[in-house]
Amino acid sequence: MAEDLTIVTGTKEDAYSSLIPQINGLLEGETDDVANLANVAAALKEQFGWFWVGFYLVKNNELVLGPFQGPVACTRIAKGRGVCGTAWRDAATLIVPDVEQFPGHIACSSLSRSEIVVPVIRNNEVIGVLDVDSALLSQFDETDQKYLEQIVAAIPLSGQVNK
Ligand code: SME
Repeated sequence: MAEDLTIVTGTKEDAYSSLIPQINGLLEGETDDVANLANVAAALKEQFGWFWVGFYLVKNNELVLGPFQGPVACTRIAKGRGVCGTAWRDAATLIVPDVEQFPGHIACSSLSRSEIVVPVIRNNEVIGVLDVDSALLSQFDETDQKYLEQIVAAIPLSGQVNK
């Protein structure tokens, strides 16, 4: 496993194209869920410099804070609440260009301005979400959706983290 990430500047496509094989390399052969989620959050944060990148995991019908990079965050989110709880309930990626316009947005930090939440789905069930926040408005689009969904789908997860 490579221990250093190669960061590229350029378009988002360039960044994801360089990052995805490196993420796959980081995950290869590792079977621990926390280790894998932690490295994915770190790799995304390092490449893109977003304000907050992390996972919330479904435990006892609630989202609970998992591995993340960024400032401290809310620990529990109910189904249907905020952007994360809505992406969970709907089992669909949500792109929010301006969090202040999203009814029920949970402001863990007033510095977060736009957000994308990608559900982590295994066996047709949402087992968690990837939440990415930016300090700038309108930072996420279909390119992020496409690649983040791809990244999330490829994380080997055994279900340890949902207990
Ligand atoms: N803003 C999110 C809550 C999680 S934090 O931003 C890390 C939401 O509305 O779901």
